[in-house]
This record gives sequence, C-alpha cells and structure tokens, in this order.
Amino acid sequence: SVLEMEVEQINKGKYEHYMQKEIHEQPQSLTTTMRGRLIRGGSCKAKSVLLGGLKDHLKTIRRSRRIVFIGCGTSYNAALAARPILEELSGIPVTMEIASDLLDRQGPIYREDTTVFVSQSGETADTLLALEYALENGALCVGITNTVGSAIARNTHCGVHINAGCEIGVASTKAYTSQIVVMAMLALAIGDDTISSQTRREAIIDGLFDLPGKVKEVLKLDEEMKDLAKLLIAEQSLLVFGRGYNYATALEGALKVKEVSLMHSEGILAGEMKHGPLALVDETLPIVVIATRDACFSKQQSVIQQLHARKGRLIVMCTKGDAESVCVGGSCRVIEVPQVEDCLQPVINIVPLQLLAYHLTVLRGYNVDQPRNLAKSVTTQ
Ligand code: AGP
Repeated sequence: SVLEMEVEQINKGKYEHYMQKEIHEQPQSLTTTMRGRLIRGGSCKAKSVLLGGLKDHLKTIRRSRRIVFIGCGTSYNAALAARPILEELSGIPVTMEIASDLLDRQGPIYREDTTVFVSQSGETADTLLALEYALENGALCVGITNTVGSAIARNTHCGVHINAGCEIGVASTKAYTSQIVVMAMLALAIGDDTISSQTRREAIIDGLFDLPGKVKEVLKLDEEMKDLAKLLIAEQSLLVFGRGYNYATALEGALKVKEVSLMHSEGILAGEMKHGPLALVDETLPIVVIATRDACFSKQQSVIQQLHARKGRLIVMCTKGDAESVCVGGSCRVIEVPQVEDCLQPVINIVPLQLLAYHLTVLRGYNVDQPRNLAKSVTTQ
C-alpha cells in the first residue's frame, strides 16, 4: 500500500543516515521517476515519452518564445544540468533564474514565456513568490516537484511529479538525479519527432533505460570515495571544475561538500579558469576536474595540462578506461565512472561527489542529515 511504502521510506533500514540511504537508493528512485513514462517502442511504435500532466500544454510550450527555469540551490543546479538538452531538442532559448534574484531584479517575464518551477519540496518561499510573479505576468507556469499537493504543484498550470520518494536528509541527493531525468524527459516531450533528431532521441531514451543500472555501478565507488575523504579530511577548501553538461555537476558537487561537511568548496566553470580562479592553484589546494567523454573532452584535457603546469593537486573524474590518457603532464588521482549518453552523464557524475560529501562529513564528525543553520525547506525569505 501507499502507506507501507511511505513508512518504508522513513525507516533508515540498514543505513546509518538518511543522506546515505537516499544516495544508495538512487537506482530505485530513478526507476520510479521513469515508471510509465517511457515507451520502449517496438515493431511499429517509435520510442517515446509520455508525461500525462503536460500533454494538454505541449503545443503552447512549443510555441513559446522562451523557456525560463526557476529554482533555488540543488533544484536550480538540476535545471542547469538539463538546460543543454532542452535547448538542443526544443530549439527554444532557455534561460536560468535563481528565484530570489529574479525577484530582486523584478526581471522581465512575458506572456509568451514558459516558466518552469523546479522544487523538491514545492514549498520554497522564493520559488513560490517567483511563481506568483510569473502568474501575474501571464506566463505559462509548469511545476516540477517531488511533493504531491505542495503549493508549487497546486498553483502551477501543469507539471510533472518527480516521484523520487520522500527525501529526508537536508542535502538533496536522489531528488537531484530524478529532477534531471524529468527534465530530460521534458526535453524529449517538447522536441519534435523529426527524422533528423530520431537517432539522438532514441539514444537518450535507451540511455534513460540504462541509467538505474549504471547508477548501481557508480555506487560501487563508495569505499574509494571514503578513502578520498580520509585524504581530504583536514583541507580548508576544495575546488570542482566542470563545463558543458557537467558545469552543473561542479556547482552541485561543491554545494554538497560545503553544506554537509562544512568545508569551503566552489564549483567553477572550467572555461573561466584563466579569468581568475587559476590564481588559486598551487601544490596544496585539492581540485576535482570533471573530464568524462563528451564534446568538451579535449578542452578539459587542456585544462588538466594547464593545471598540471601550475603543479595543481588534481583529482580527475573520467570515463572508465580513460585513466591513463586523461592524466598526461603530471600525476593525479582518478575517479573512473561508467559512460552514458552525454546529456545524462550528470546523473552519473554527481554520485561520487555525493558519496565524497557524505564521508567527509561523517569523518569530520558533523551532522550529515541536519547541517547547522539549514532547514530542509526554506519557507521564509
Ligand atoms: C540542497 O542540498 C539544499 N538543501 C538546498 O539548496 C535546496 O535544494 C533548496 O533549498 C531548494 O529546495 P527545494 O528544491 O525544496 O525548492
């Protein structure tokens, strides 16, 4: 029954902390997020996506002049991870707004816009106020939340439930990966099923089906991430470099580390390296560089070489089998992850960083489920 399922969710079971449980249950939460929404195709049926809560609004969304993603914290990062695939498949300009900043600026929102509100709780004050603002301005408002009946779910015109199951740890983990999957499905639903995009669409749908298995595989890095945490336990700071699909992974990895382990951490867009952050690099500051295979790979390789030239202390995340080729020009520690379709790679790549943040916190002796000064949902401004 639903009640039994919910009770099951709030038991920690064999885990010591909710954050740990929620990280490890991602193969299942991703499966429930996709359940009933992906059509595998067959002899005459094409592979496709079915999002019931959106079907009456897809035409309007396709005609909109702009798609505006709005959220805070991890939910904003999830939207940032999905932005490139939404742009690619829809051909519509996609812009990003942190809810509080949109409100501070009273930024322009138009009737021709589709605004997408991303929120695990569905109750975040800034996101909710931004929703009221977008409604006043006449935009179509879409909600992506993990909480049925929440304020954002109720007040948007239409939406998609994340269905990741109840998330209790203050640090959002399984909701993040499920949000990315929902937005990838949204991109597939909005995008036209043209012949030219068919191969790509089918590869993404196949990639979605493969995701839970690949996440199970990447979770095997748990011990390795614990060892890395031991190595980093006394550091002051940790930088995370990413770009393209994994710019969001850098921001989200750093957010996880700072919010639970209370270590300063910063996600950096690798393309900005020479515009300031490079000055921080020396032989002591640990730097995670995300360099999995995608169109940005060679650019990331040259970033690694330049960091080596400054004697940077590198931890490189790369695709399985790339360990040797990725670290030319110096020595580094490597995290090898399984490969998926490029636009879904952020779902895989965040997992080792979630594990790292978790172990760092436990080793440093801090409260992993309820970090000081933070609340699970921020219902005040
Ligand atoms: C995530 O680890 C943080 N606790 C926080 O950034 C959170 O994502 C943010 O407050 C937004 O919450 P929401 O998704 O419930 O709107």
